[in-house]
Amino acid sequence: MPLILDGNRIRDDIKSELKPRVEALAAQGAPPGLAVVLVGNSPASEIYVRNKIKACHDLGIYSDSITPPGTISTEELLATVRDLNQRPDLDGILVQLPLPRQVDTKRILEAVTPAKDADGIHPCNVGRLVAGLPGPRACTPAGILEVLRRYQIPVAGKRAVVVGRSDIVGKPVALLLLHEHATVTICHSRTTDLAAVCREADILVVAMGKAAMITGDFIRPGATVIDVGMNRIDSRDEVARIFRNSPEKLASFDRRGSVLVGDVHPLDVVEKAAAYTPVPGGVGPLTIAMLMVNTVAAAERRAGVC
Ligand code: GUN
Repeated sequence: MPLILDGNRIRDDIKSELKPRVEALAAQGAPPGLAVVLVGNSPASEIYVRNKIKACHDLGIYSDSITPPGTISTEELLATVRDLNQRPDLDGILVQLPLPRQVDTKRILEAVTPAKDADGIHPCNVGRLVAGLPGPRACTPAGILEVLRRYQIPVAGKRAVVVGRSDIVGKPVALLLLHEHATVTICHSRTTDLAAVCREADILVVAMGKAAMITGDFIRPGATVIDVGMNRIDSRDEVARIFRNSPEKLASFDRRGSVLVGDVHPLDVVEKAAAYTPVPGGVGPLTIAMLMVNTVAAAERRAGVC
């Protein structure tokens, strides 16, 4: 049986490590603060944001959620972000993505002052990542590197293949792996013979948003597989197909009306990988943990602790 890389356990360890840092800041009268901006009412985004606010609460981080209507214009949202930039009680600002179509996402992300960029995706902070300078890192990529580090999975000299080239996962995780001396390939929807490229990977990171697409023939035996996908399957037939009629999964579907599946085939990965992140309970919890890390680090910089 492969090693299951337990994101919930690492999340709990990270939170325990952050707690005394939050308490020290609070004792100085400068508790960390995070604003989460959730535009409109996407049920998926609402769940993510609720979990982020809960994580703040658990740690004693002050949080404020700002919930403008889905009809907001770019100019109005820019004004909201500029107000948050000015607020002394906030160390971090996170604008939950995706934004509605009428909003210019790049302008909004660029409007967040880089020092408060809890998500690590402001172009200045992306530039710092490229240059190997310190700064907030994108949360999911930073969480993936924490998994590899805490499970002591060797990265230097290894072949890493990243499937997906998004600004918030694919590109930054490729750079982080490169900085750890992996030989990195980035694949995407136009990659020729994706399976053959993926089979070269000692470390395979998948963030493409297609349920169970990475089947056994994409996975080198003994690889470490990191699955960033979170796909909600609400068709019973599809659950039966992916899980090969597993009675437990079908019973779970019948109870809840849906089942979460990553981008990696959940049965094939067990056959092929030496280690893998499950869905749920793998990468997901770490995204929020690293958001907390970025917020606390920003508060420490403001307080002059580091
Ligand atoms: N939507 C899905 N993942 C993320 C993330 O990591 N950050 C933000 N801001 N929005 C997201």
